[in-house]
Amino acid sequence: MTAAPYREQAARRAEYERWIEGAAPSAFGIRWFMGAGQWLANAALYRLPENLKLDASTRLLDIGCGRATLLRAVDDALGCEVAPVGLDFSRAALRLAARDERNPRRGAGLVEGSATALPFRDGAFNLVTCGYVVKHLDDDDVRALLIEVRRVLEPGGLAVVWEFGPTGNPRLDAWNYRVLATGQSSSDLARLRLRSDATLRRLAAEAGFPYVRDANLRPFLLPPIPRASVLLGRPPEGFEGSL
Ligand SMILES: C[S@@+](CC[C@H](N)C(=O)[O-])C[C@H]1O[C@@H](n2cnc3c(N)ncnc32)[C@H](O)[C@@H]1O
Repeated sequence: MTAAPYREQAARRAEYERWIEGAAPSAFGIRWFMGAGQWLANAALYRLPENLKLDASTRLLDIGCGRATLLRAVDDALGCEVAPVGLDFSRAALRLAARDERNPRRGAGLVEGSATALPFRDGAFNLVTCGYVVKHLDDDDVRALLIEVRRVLEPGGLAVVWEFGPTGNPRLDAWNYRVLATGQSSSDLARLRLRSDATLRRLAAEAGFPYVRDANLRPFLLPPIPRASVLLGRPPEGFEGSL
């Protein structure tokens, strides 16, 4: 990684630390969405175990896990034999996740690290999820993240990536950019990128994923901004399910 992108990532991380721990209304908002309000932000993901026919053999990595609420829900639904892992570059987010967690087995799986340089061995997971992270990354970093996701997935593993997407209406998009950057600096607003399903598919193909599909995740209840989502990986023989 060259010095400039590293500095940019450090700045983003500092921004998140300040934001997540802050006292501004938007800080309460982000803490609530990552915790009690998670179902409203990620309703579609609660159907993953059923829609992907997951079972207790699932070895899950959630990148940008925040308070790790989704990770807990999937583990509760599946009773994973191997404790799931949640990665985040924000210590503030991981502190909240550790506070929410009553299960020491899962608490041990909270890892500080960067989405673009995952501190895990090749093929360590068979399911990777990553929600609401890529809007902060430029295309090179999204490719770097997806190359890392491919590396840590075992053959036959799947990844699901979702993010706020564009509406197709420039004025509405301008409004949504402002909503999403609330409480963050103007430089963060300038860095935000809302990408379509097609753009995420292209970046995943460029990152070398042999299997790239629209995940068509629905519904997402709040905030009322469209989502783009992709399903990536090398599915097992005969897999014909859809999300
Ligand atoms: C909007 S929150 C979403 C949290 C969680 N995925 C959810 O859906 O509730 C984004 C999270 O990703 C983390 N994050 C953003 N960029 C990251 C990066 N480059 N590496 C690791 N974590 C990152 C932030 O610290 C934050 O906790």
